Amino acid sequence: MKRIVFVLLCFSCIAAAQQKSESRDERVEALLKKMSLEEKIGQMTQVDYDAIKKQTGDIATYSLGSILWGGNSEPPSMKPNAWWEISDAYQDLAQKTRLSIPLLFGIDAVHGHNNVDGTVITPHNIGLGATRNPELVELVGRMVAAEVRGTGIQWTFAPCIAVARDERWGRTYESFGEDPGLVKELGAALVKGFQSERLSNPGSVLACVKHYLADGGTTNGKDQGNSEMDEATLRRLHLPGYVEAIKAGAMSIMASFSSWNGQKMHGNKYLLTDVLKGELGFKGFVVSDWAAIDQLPGSYKEQIALSINAGLDMAMIPNAPGDKNNYLEFMQLLKELVNENRVPMSRIDDAVRRILLVKFQMNLFANPSRDNKLTAAIGSKEHREIARDAVRQSLVLLKNEKGFLPLSRNLKRIHVAGRGADSIGMQCGGWTISWQGSSTLKLDGATTILQAVQQTVSKDTKVTYSIDGTGAAGAEAAILVVGESPYAEMFGDSMDLSLSKEDQAIIETMKSSGIPFAVILLSGRPMIINQALKASNAFVAAWLPGTEGEGVTDVIFGNFKPVGKLPHSWPRTMEQIPINVGDPTYDPLFPYGYGLTYSK
Ligand code: BGC
Ligand code: BGC
Repeated sequence: MKRIVFVLLCFSCIAAAQQKSESRDERVEALLKKMSLEEKIGQMTQVDYDAIKKQTGDIATYSLGSILWGGNSEPPSMKPNAWWEISDAYQDLAQKTRLSIPLLFGIDAVHGHNNVDGTVITPHNIGLGATRNPELVELVGRMVAAEVRGTGIQWTFAPCIAVARDERWGRTYESFGEDPGLVKELGAALVKGFQSERLSNPGSVLACVKHYLADGGTTNGKDQGNSEMDEATLRRLHLPGYVEAIKAGAMSIMASFSSWNGQKMHGNKYLLTDVLKGELGFKGFVVSDWAAIDQLPGSYKEQIALSINAGLDMAMIPNAPGDKNNYLEFMQLLKELVNENRVPMSRIDDAVRRILLVKFQMNLFANPSRDNKLTAAIGSKEHREIARDAVRQSLVLLKNEKGFLPLSRNLKRIHVAGRGADSIGMQCGGWTISWQGSSTLKLDGATTILQAVQQTVSKDTKVTYSIDGTGAAGAEAAILVVGESPYAEMFGDSMDLSLSKEDQAIIETMKSSGIPFAVILLSGRPMIINQALKASNAFVAAWLPGTEGEGVTDVIFGNFKPVGKLPHSWPRTMEQIPINVGDPTYDPLFPYGYGLTYSK
């Protein structure tokens, strides 16, 4: 009897689900039928906040589909209320259009809701890669989604599922690691975290998996460069992450600036349409990267034709009217292309269908605004705890001579030094408040490593601090925090990953003082560290941990045993790069997966 009831229940669930999705498809079709060509093209257009803010009337005039905040697009303030006030106001404008199609707001929430002051900044993906913990990564995604939705934004351009094969690449930290298996597991976890079981949940954000395809495989690690490899290698290294992300429900994908064997991805019909939408059965929509269409061959009109015909569904357009290749030009030229039969109407309908489907799935028509409870939870203690856990699980212990770590909380005196010790900016790296990040950043609610040390030690322990390492004499132990200054994208491409002169000097100073010390490296990738490693008593790779400095001291003072494992093979020299697990000759300083822990 029970069994029969169960079977009946299952049937009715399936029937209900089918009905729901049928009615959703029907709603998409019904709406599409009502739309003019101009309205359809409007839905395919995504405009940057900086370009639209002076003529917000265009939102309604052109029924724009989406607004983004680029890394440097600045609202009047960087606090949460500035963002939701704008998103609410713009959404109202969209409501007033003939068909009241809601806007989709997108932002690069790539390690927390990182453009907004007072939010929780989590480790960059490279650190998440070191945790090897998909459940944790999913939880991080859920937390970030709540913060993003709390500002009225429903879409994050994340996760980046690049498989970073060359540490010279400035975006290495945006990738979970060098191994496709790791990337695919954690990429899917982050998608699930962002989107939850249902996109219609008020705390879900739409994920945007990027950058399709092989952004991390370019020759010499050049950003936006050329990935030179045969198709079998392309599929083996760079495709699995997409297969898994689509299975996990990802409904948007960003095309890559880069090329495959000389052909720009934004014009690659085989990979965008045949493989992604055909073979992999991707039902969501493909968005371009920032003005990336403009890099295709030909006039702007030809570039638009090439990309839309290749399978691009939405164009990300940063330029304002008056500038070259702005959104008004885009819409005008695309309309001409349709009227001249150079872009088929069926292609436009396919693109708009995909975009509308997502808007329906997210229930934006019924509920375009934000949930006040989510706004109130931005930067909360509960959210910070999740990020702190991610930080401590991401730390990789590379050296620990004679059990130097963990340090006792009861030492008489500890000296803390280095450029990174009291720098939220260095802890966070690029994509924090501004596109490139900044060493001198101050953020509401953030904790530097120095502050975390001060909070952790016993009340009788004296903590002294100097940036350059001087004044350490008399301390029982020292903690040096060194590493990279913030950067993003091509600005981080580098042929020399050795520690800066300043960092090397401070290590020398400390070594000659005779005080035993641990080095904490804040960096977006492995660096060339041989001398520093030799000189130190302990060495920790902390990646770009974000705002929760206590996650670092949890490990340093032994509240938490290190569990992090290297997401990259650690090179001995620059000449060894590219070096990746599985290479036929493989002699790294530390192999992929390396990481010590405490014995006690
Ligand atoms: C980056 C993308 C990012 C976009 C929007 C581009 O320059 O390559 O990763 O999502 O800008 O900020
Ligand atoms: C970034 C944007 C950023 C812009 C600055 C792009 O490449 O990804 O988000 O605001 O450059 O010009």
